[in-house]
Amino acid sequence: MIHKIKELLKETEEFSVKSAEELESFRLKYLSKKGEISQLFNDFKNVPAELKKEVGQEINILKQFAQEKFDQFKAVIEDSQTGTETLDLTRPGEPLELGSRHPISIVRNEIISIFNRLGFTVAEGPEIEDDWHVFSALNFPPEHPARDMQDTFFIDKANEILLRTHTSSVQVRVMQNTKPPIRSIFPGRVFRNEAISARAHCIFHQVEGLYVAENVSFADLKQTLLYFAKEMFGEKTQIRLRPSYFPFTEPSAEMDVSCSICGGKGCNICKYSGWLEILGCGMVDPNVLESCGIDSEKYTGFAFGMGIERIAMLKFQIKDLRLYFENDVRFLRQFKSAY
Ligand code: DAH
Repeated sequence: MIHKIKELLKETEEFSVKSAEELESFRLKYLSKKGEISQLFNDFKNVPAELKKEVGQEINILKQFAQEKFDQFKAVIEDSQTGTETLDLTRPGEPLELGSRHPISIVRNEIISIFNRLGFTVAEGPEIEDDWHVFSALNFPPEHPARDMQDTFFIDKANEILLRTHTSSVQVRVMQNTKPPIRSIFPGRVFRNEAISARAHCIFHQVEGLYVAENVSFADLKQTLLYFAKEMFGEKTQIRLRPSYFPFTEPSAEMDVSCSICGGKGCNICKYSGWLEILGCGMVDPNVLESCGIDSEKYTGFAFGMGIERIAMLKFQIKDLRLYFENDVRFLRQFKSAY
């Protein structure tokens, strides 16, 4: 019997398989129920007791070897089949879907491009700021409610380190580091401790504008903003300035544009007033110029600040602020074709 086992081992070693049919005949001959190896197990009961251990081991070695050989051949044959039958190199490639710009980026870039045409450069400042750049240098009185913990995210209350609540802080940094004339805009993210709803978010985007030079007047401010409004919302757009208050500008105003949806006739977007508020502005308060080391006797300036989300909402008729942050591709895809 040992002799027979050795013979079969040799046979299986030498056996070579090139096709699925040959593999099947290998299986039938050696591994199937009626195959050679099963036969050996049947004959095993006749083996004298003293030889059982040795013979048993040899049969198991043979069985294991034949099974491994079968598995190897099977893998090779299956590989070669997928290679020839399922990989069709003539099929067209999978189309790669292109992404699109986020509406906030689209509007941000458009604002930058409009002001570039008027000679405004772009600067940026830190999102983590200190009280001085965000409030004190901008003429906020010490007890002003905007400093309150309810509005401002403090990082280190003791050292007055906080997340900026507006991009006006970049004005301060630029005025400290640049000699007039200054003509720049500052886009960036701002943070306020607000409950998230369709109309408010704790993170949003602003663009601040600043022009400081000799003889800058309110008329320059008005003409600059009129140009901006027409470029952004269309040639027919009108603007109106309403008196307002900001600590860092004097006089201050809020600007409305005529509603581009109804052309000023009144609709539910403009709440039947014909006007939409889009930004705050004014002449830079002399206190602010002086805080930043600019001679307020020699120079004057104007500043303005707008929310990008708000402008994008009006431009694309987006009704809920939260959509900007959800990253739902069904929303984002809609901005693909236009830009
Ligand atoms: N910083 C103001 C805000 O966040 C916006 C603003 C108003 C900026 C008037 C200005 C300005 O530069 O002159 O609400």
